Amino acid sequence: DNANITLNNGVTIPQLGLGVFQTKSGKETADAVREALQAGYRHIDTAAAYGNEESVGEGLRQSGLKRRDVFITTKLWNDDARAGIAKEAFYRSMEKLGTEYIDLYLIHWPVDGWEKAWETMAELYAERRVRAIGVSNFQPHHLESLLSISDAKPAVNQIESSPQFANQDVIDFTHAKGINVEAYSPLGGTGGTLLSNPALAAIAQRYGKSPAQVVIRWHLQRGLIVIPKSTHAERIRQNFDVFDFKLSGDDMEAIDALNTGVRTGADPDNFNF
Ligand code: A2P
Repeated sequence: DNANITLNNGVTIPQLGLGVFQTKSGKETADAVREALQAGYRHIDTAAAYGNEESVGEGLRQSGLKRRDVFITTKLWNDDARAGIAKEAFYRSMEKLGTEYIDLYLIHWPVDGWEKAWETMAELYAERRVRAIGVSNFQPHHLESLLSISDAKPAVNQIESSPQFANQDVIDFTHAKGINVEAYSPLGGTGGTLLSNPALAAIAQRYGKSPAQVVIRWHLQRGLIVIPKSTHAERIRQNFDVFDFKLSGDDMEAIDALNTGVRTGADPDNFNF
């Protein structure tokens, strides 16, 4: 079954969640969220910038599950961090989701102004509006700087990681600081070629699983929190059917060997949005 990971503040998070980056607001997102919750997911990862928080809330309500049974993450958008309006942005997200609290609130990117945003998030955490706070796209130097200026420790750092772009140095650094890592674009991202890699297909075939299932398993066995995205009900279910097999050490290493060191997403040290 889906394992729970205990974050550094004692809050538990389901290790496997549904990501909704690039899932269209409206029916597409509401359906994906409802399908996921019906399939057993209990963790949804969205962001203000995805434009679909209202539909995430809609999917949650359609599922009939209780709010407290589902772990919801959203993220502070860059413009709001730069403008110093993190608190307003937080309440706007909460209103769109239609919830009384958020489980995990993240700084989406390390933009100018993130330090002040972090202070605000620490206040929201102290006020118990959010059960955990963290960051996304933080490089080791950003984390060093955060840990030196604040007593509030991030619970997670959400970064790009997949067999193509393992990002292992950032993972190791983050873990060494007692912070959990969440992998985004875990299947190689939208329009990626990872899932048609022949080496991966050969491994998957031996387990009677799909390449996506094998990649999700690889993340889970590395101890990461992982949030694959799909808008297709069948794939959403398939991506959750990963708790009945285990990759061998040799197969883990064969997947490690697919690393090219090339990102699919933006570089946290050089982005322009
Ligand atoms: P779709 O949403 O059309 O299913 P990531 O999580 O790395 O961002 O990757 C998501 C991409 O992989 C999306 O384009 C998604 O497409 C596709 N995808 C998700 N699950 C599967 C699966 N089980 N098999 C094939 N493709 C998948």
